[in-house]
Parts: sequence; C-alpha cells; structure tokens
Amino acid sequence: MVFAVVAETREIARAAATRAKFSYHDLPHATDILDARAMGYRNVTDPLTLKRGDAVAALETAPRRLQAAMRIGGQEHFYLESHIALAIPGEDDEVVVWSSTQHPSEIQHMVANILQIPVHAVTVNTRRMGGGFGGKETQGNQFAALAALAAKRLGRAVKFRPDRDEDMVMTGKRHDFLAEYDVGFDDAGHILAVKANYAARCGFSSDLSGPVTDRALFHADNAYYYPDVLLTSEPIKTNTVSNTAFRGFGGPQGLVGAERIIEEIAYAVGVDPLEIRKRNFYATEGDERCLTPYHQKVEDNVIHRVVEELEASSDYQARRSAIIDFNRTSRVIRKGIALTPVKFGISFTFTPFNQAGALVHIYQDGSVHLNHGGTEMGQGLYTKVAQVLADEFQIDIDRVKITATTTGKVPNTSATAASSGTDLNGMAAHDAARQIKDRLYSFAAERWQVPVADVHFLPNRVRIGNEEVPFAHFIKQAYMARVHLSAAGFYKTPKIHWDRARGQGRPFLYYAYGASVSEVSIDTLTGEYMVDRADILHDVGKSLNPAIDKGQVEGAYVQGMGWLTTEELWWDGKGRLRTHAPSTYKIPLASDRPREFNVNLAEWSVNKEMTIGRSKAVGEPPFMLGVSVLEALSMAVASVADYKVCPRLDAPATPERVLMAVERMRGV
Ligand code: MTE
Ligand code: HPA
Ligand code: CA
Repeated sequence: MVFAVVAETREIARAAATRAKFSYHDLPHATDILDARAMGYRNVTDPLTLKRGDAVAALETAPRRLQAAMRIGGQEHFYLESHIALAIPGEDDEVVVWSSTQHPSEIQHMVANILQIPVHAVTVNTRRMGGGFGGKETQGNQFAALAALAAKRLGRAVKFRPDRDEDMVMTGKRHDFLAEYDVGFDDAGHILAVKANYAARCGFSSDLSGPVTDRALFHADNAYYYPDVLLTSEPIKTNTVSNTAFRGFGGPQGLVGAERIIEEIAYAVGVDPLEIRKRNFYATEGDERCLTPYHQKVEDNVIHRVVEELEASSDYQARRSAIIDFNRTSRVIRKGIALTPVKFGISFTFTPFNQAGALVHIYQDGSVHLNHGGTEMGQGLYTKVAQVLADEFQIDIDRVKITATTTGKVPNTSATAASSGTDLNGMAAHDAARQIKDRLYSFAAERWQVPVADVHFLPNRVRIGNEEVPFAHFIKQAYMARVHLSAAGFYKTPKIHWDRARGQGRPFLYYAYGASVSEVSIDTLTGEYMVDRADILHDVGKSLNPAIDKGQVEGAYVQGMGWLTTEELWWDGKGRLRTHAPSTYKIPLASDRPREFNVNLAEWSVNKEMTIGRSKAVGEPPFMLGVSVLEALSMAVASVADYKVCPRLDAPATPERVLMAVERMRGV
C-alpha cells in the first residue's frame, strides 16, 4: 500500500483514490517459482528438512525408481464477505476496533504497534465473519491498522472495506507449489524410499509461509509409510502478493504430492492405485511401520477400516470394472473413479499456539454468559462451545448467550485456525464450567446438609438429596449465599512438542482420517467434465454436532474439488492478477456439486485422546477429500492410452488442462 484516502463517504474516497498519479519504472521481477529460482531469489524464511533413514542410498539400490515433478495451483479464499475493519477512537490512547478477523489478538498487537501504544489500550471485537478459510488469519491486519491510524489521527470513527476485486488483488492466497519427487519402489508397488522437495510461491514477505511449507512436509506422507525419507521445503520469495493460510495450511499440497507418487507407482506396475495405497498404509500397530518422517508414531490409525468400509458402501470394485468396460467402447466420453484417503495432524505445529481461554458468568436468573478466544466464521464453533456449557450445567442451549469475541474478556488468544477452535476453546469453557460447578456442589452439600455425591445436575434442575430445585432458583440461592458465579477457564494441549531444528518430535496430539470416492465423466473433445457421484466416510471422533460436522465435510469436499479443478489464479507478465472477480475466477457452483453425494461420519470412531467429548477437529481435514476428483479425472484421461502411462495431470485440472492431457495421451 502506498497511500490511503479518508473521506466522509466511501464513494468520495474511492473517486479520490483513482485520481492518484504514479510514476515508476519496471525492475526485474519474478512472479513464478522457476523465475525466482533462475534469478537467484532467496527463501522468505528458513526451510525445513525432515529425514529418517538414508533415502539417497535407498533410492540407488531400489529395484525401480521414478523422478518427476508436479505443479499444484494456489487458491483464492472467496469468503462471501470481504475484509472489513471499523476503528473507534476512545479517550487518551484508547481505540476499539471491530474487525473481520480470525485472530483478534494479532490485530490488537498490530494496531498497538502502528500507533505506538501499549496493547492494553486496544480492544478488538469480532462478532462473526462471513467466511474466513484462513484468509483472515493475518490478512486483516492491514485494514485494521489503517482504519485505526486514520481514526486516531482524525478523532473520528473510520471504516475500511475493500470491494471484491480489491480484496482479491490485495490479499494473499493459498500457496501454489512445485513438488519434485524421486521415489524408489519394488515390483509389487511397495514404497522403499522417497526424496522430495516442496517449493512454494510465497510472495514478497514471509507472512505464514514458514509454517505453511512446514505443514506441506508434515503431510507429504499422507497415510503412507516411507521406509527411508528425505523431505525439504523451499519457501521462495516472489514479487507477488504475500501468500497466507488457507484451509489445510500447506497440508493439502503435501498430500496431493503423496497421491501423485502413488499414481506413478500404480501406472508403473499396472495395478489399481487403490491397491498401491493399501500396500503402503501406515500399520495399525507396531513400531517401525508407524513412524512418520518427523518421528511421531501414528498411534490412532483407523485408515484401514475407513477405506475398507467406504470401498464396500460405495461399491467401488464393481463400479470400477463397469467404468473400465464403458471406456473400452465409448469414443468421446470417458469415465474415471478414484478412492483417496486423508490423514491430517491436529495441533498448531507452533506449540505455544495450543492454548485457549474462556470466561463464563452465571447471572441471578440462571442465564449464562459465555466468551472464549475463538472466532465464528460459519464453522459452527460458537454453537459447539455453547453446547459444552449447556451440557455441563444441563440447561437448554438458549439459556447460554454466546458473546462476541473480544480481547478485553479473554486475552492472549490464538488464531481460530488449524481446525483447533473447538478442541481448544471447548476445553477452556469446560474448565470454567467445572470450576463454577465445583463451587455449586460444595454450596448445595453444605446448605442442604447432604454428601456432595447426592447433588446432581439434571435437565434444567438440580437434585439435592430428595429435593429438586429449578436451575434458576438454585442459582439465585447460590448468589444469596455469596457463591462466586464466574470463572475464567484455561486449556493447553498436552503431550505435544516439536524440535524444528532436528525435525523431530510430536507436533500433533492426534490425527483425523477420512476417505472419498469420486466418479467423473470427461468429454475428450473439449476437456469439460462433471462429478457424477461422490461417497465420503469421514472420522470426526465422537461428533459433538453431526449436522454441523456433515456440513463441514460436504463444504470442504466441494471447496477442495474447486481448488483442484476450476479455480485458477493467473498473473500476467507484469505480476498483475488478472483473475480477480467471479467472472474470471471459477469457484464451484451449486450445479457443480456431485450429482449423487453420500456423506457419512464414521460413527464408531472415538478420539483416543482426552479431547472435548472425545471429538475430533473437522474444519480442515475433509478439504483433502476433494483429491479423489483429481485422481478420478486422471484415470479418465489415462483411459485414452489404455492406462499404460501416468497422465501426470497437474492441478488445477481445468478443462483446458484435461484436454491437453488427453492430447498427450493420444500421442503415446
Ligand atoms: N467453515 C465455514 N463455513 N467458513 C469458514 O471460513 N474455515 C475453515 C473451517 N471451516 C471455515 C469453515 C478453516 S480454514 C478452519 S481452520 C476451521 O473452520 C476453523 O474453525 P474451527 O477450528 O473452529 O473448526
Ligand atoms: N491450519 C493449520 N495449521 C496452522 C494454521 C492453520 O490455519 N495456522 C497456523 N498453523
Ligand atoms: Ca483473499
């Protein structure tokens, strides 16, 4: 940003801003990873290496070996509401900022920093966002900081709201990647060694590119055991907008690389990629074949069961045979089907972020005020955390008021990100409720002269000995007896640790699993395609709210599919983003959803770790279920050359790219 115009109305400000005249001359610049490399650009932050065994030696001796590369595109968040910030100056150095952010505490720090005032003078409020998807984890800073600066200068409230095109041009996106892989395997398709480098287009600054490229490596194994492995990241600087968090946070890019490796092996040895997947899954028990490239042991592996059940319920084998038959005689339309798994690590890899707070008050009428550090962006977090309290106190959920997230009530919060909103804030709210309940138990036991064991919270009432008291009356009496009816709860994730320099530790508390089967049809003359059917089985542990969780799984699958198919970001030679509106940037429409869509949660699953209600995080993991669409398209393309070669279909597999891949297949 070069300058800002502040005016009475948005229209005047906008008109004035367009009057600015710049004189500048072009300097050498790199918009792409390969250009940046050729020009000797540096990384924006330190790369990561993950290593186990000796991949280089194992590759030399492997019976078979393949080396290739894959391009994986970026993605615009396309939250329905653009960024927005409203700053209201207060007395002395104070300022209140209403911001559409996933990270109120970071906005607070940034505003304090730009105004050179202590953090205590800044209050940041977030009621809710019209979608965030990671795009509001750091990228709201510029809007909030400018609004606050102008508000303090002018002594007036200032609102900053970019329109859709400006938002798309000004804010960072999902990192696009170049994955270069070298894999050694045997004739049965068992992976023996993997060496891979993941280079990412980071843009002009580091933003979250360090942890994003780290997470790409954490998921470069997906659900597969690599006996010898060497993974490196390359977070390279480019002269483009600074890329940022997006649902999955580099994990999807790492995982797509793993699935490409599986495909390569499958075509090389001539068997169904699903068979190769199964042969390489982490073991369910034991030591060796449960070790990840970062030396964390996989202790909760349910991928075998998830895949087995989905393969049966989707009738995968019969449908695949039918598709192969169909393709034999169909001249123009070709079909493909793929079953792909997901394993996703839950916890922020930066250990200090894995903490949360909550503030709970019970008022004299028995109504409950809830505040916590998480933000609501449509994922249902507020509802889930309110459910935790309603459940603890055994009261109806409408007795719990979920108040806007604010740095003044719960301080030092982490971004609502890494899918950990419910895990962290649910547990913090639970802790606050337990503290109040402990006081209420003691109060009841003393007042009614019964043992604590005879006090029970029942729906909207409390049973004390033989007496039942409505919850509101009970609370009123507790107030009269001067019981403290307010508590601040806290939670920090146990067991996790991570030594980045050594590339070893236990960065994740647990893993979430899932699998999807997608069936597609492509038109080999135009490259156009559609998804005919999708079947999903996803693991959310013991679901806190199956309706919300199913909604997350469906939406994530479609968003993942959009990323890998029609959503293409295109910069011109001068680094200008030319796809900055829905006219040129194609997110999936309602009509693009699978014609038949069967979504199920693994109802038998229970988190082995002591999470809230034994649930598992759901926000990001199902995004990667969309990978089966890419793999199914790839199979349809491969049919053109009788499945003899891996089509190496890069992402996004736009109709143009599908058509070009078909043409390549015709040439082999
Ligand atoms: N769902 C909706 N409707 N809107 C969103 O912006 N963001 C996703 C996911 N689901 C998002 C969403 C992302 S990127 C994350 S990390 C999680 O929600 C964050 O919320 P949680 O940690 O409470 O699941
Ligand atoms: N997703 C996953 N991991 C993260 C994120 C995120 O959005 N932010 C920081 N670590
Ligand atoms: Ca954006």
